[in-house]
Amino acid sequence: MKLCVGIDIGNAKTELAFESEKQLQLVRQPSVISYLPRTPESNDLPLEHVMNNLIDNLIVNISSPSIKRNGDYYIGKKAMQHDGIKTNMLINLGGKSTHDLPIITSLSLVAATSVKKHYETEGELPESLSIDLKMATAIPSSEFSRQNAKTLEDRFKNKHIVTLYIGDHQVLTSIKVTDCKVTEEGKTSMLAFLNSDEDILEDYNEIYSENKKPSDFKSTRSLHSDIGDGTSEFVVIEGASPVQGLSKGKRLGVGHASDLAIRLLREQINISDKFTRQQLQEWLKRDNEKGQLARNLMGEATLGQAQAILEEIQTSFQELASSDVDYVFVHGGGSITFKNELQEELMDFAKNNHFKVVWIPAKYATTMNSRGTFYLAKMMYSNKK
Ligand SMILES: Nc1ncnc2c1ncn2[C@@H]1O[C@H](COP(=O)(O)OP(=O)(O)OP(=O)(O)O)[C@@H](O)[C@H]1O
Ligand SMILES: [Mg+2]
Repeated sequence: MKLCVGIDIGNAKTELAFESEKQLQLVRQPSVISYLPRTPESNDLPLEHVMNNLIDNLIVNISSPSIKRNGDYYIGKKAMQHDGIKTNMLINLGGKSTHDLPIITSLSLVAATSVKKHYETEGELPESLSIDLKMATAIPSSEFSRQNAKTLEDRFKNKHIVTLYIGDHQVLTSIKVTDCKVTEEGKTSMLAFLNSDEDILEDYNEIYSENKKPSDFKSTRSLHSDIGDGTSEFVVIEGASPVQGLSKGKRLGVGHASDLAIRLLREQINISDKFTRQQLQEWLKRDNEKGQLARNLMGEATLGQAQAILEEIQTSFQELASSDVDYVFVHGGGSITFKNELQEELMDFAKNNHFKVVWIPAKYATTMNSRGTFYLAKMMYSNKK
């Protein structure tokens, strides 16, 4: 099977973007894994049921020359629900190019997606599957150097074996990554934007009483603020091409507010040492007392983080972009979390400085990197067989 994907190896989630029957598909899981000292017992639920829930119940065995620890893992949601030791990305340390986690989550999603596709077209599980993969992904600006990008490209460009435990079946996949491009986060945002449906501009058109389509932006000069979980990137882009040298990254984002909220929560109630940022996100959605407490503390933590991010966008506009862009784009999960604290002040700043703000709607905000790297991969590899 041949596959061409863009992968966002985020601090919060890992997301694949690829095309299937000309439709763009997105598959994601939280960036959490849990190493299993022994293989879990298989279950005998009906195969159809197991396949419908495959992506949220990923159990794999991975063997790869590019990771430090081969073996059995729970991936994503399945790892979060598990009581054992969980690993997520430590946002203060970074190291997406060297950590095992991005390789493990990415390849597990590739394996599961491919097996699922085979199951849906053939009506049965394959015994094994060979996958030829061409891919593009990105690391934060704060981590980016030619050398670090090459390190990750070389780690992906290998042959990896991922066995999926599916009910009482095991499917062995061998994933050969033939091509891999590692770019800087945020740099492919405009590719994602220009390939988006028109409703990505719904909010913009309403705010500015305009009637623009994404293609109307194809030769504009813009500053992009991708506010993530662990890092935020600021990139000046002309048309769809990032301007050489005009990008920077800061360790700011939702995860830093979450870490503070977890510290505050720990002062008030007894929570496990293993409590992850991803678990806090689950709590925030709960309609109970703990949910309310988590929301209050997150509110406090959010304010300080939002202020730091606003200042960073403003200095990026003045210094990185020399006050010479017509649009500032805001996206990434932080554009959702910090919207109330950020948007109005940024709009005021925009008015005084004669640019417009394209605040990407929540529906698209966290998928710009996976979609952007997918279109990059498609451009780079579409003529290559
Ligand atoms: N509706 C939402 N959907 C997804 N994430 C949301 C939403 N609202 C808030 N968030 C928060 O945004 C963050 C995820 O943002 P994003 O997907 O941009 O991060 P990431 O790309 O995984 O991280 P990074 O770019 O730092 O590596 C999470 O902390 C999440 O809680
Ligand atoms: Mg991100």
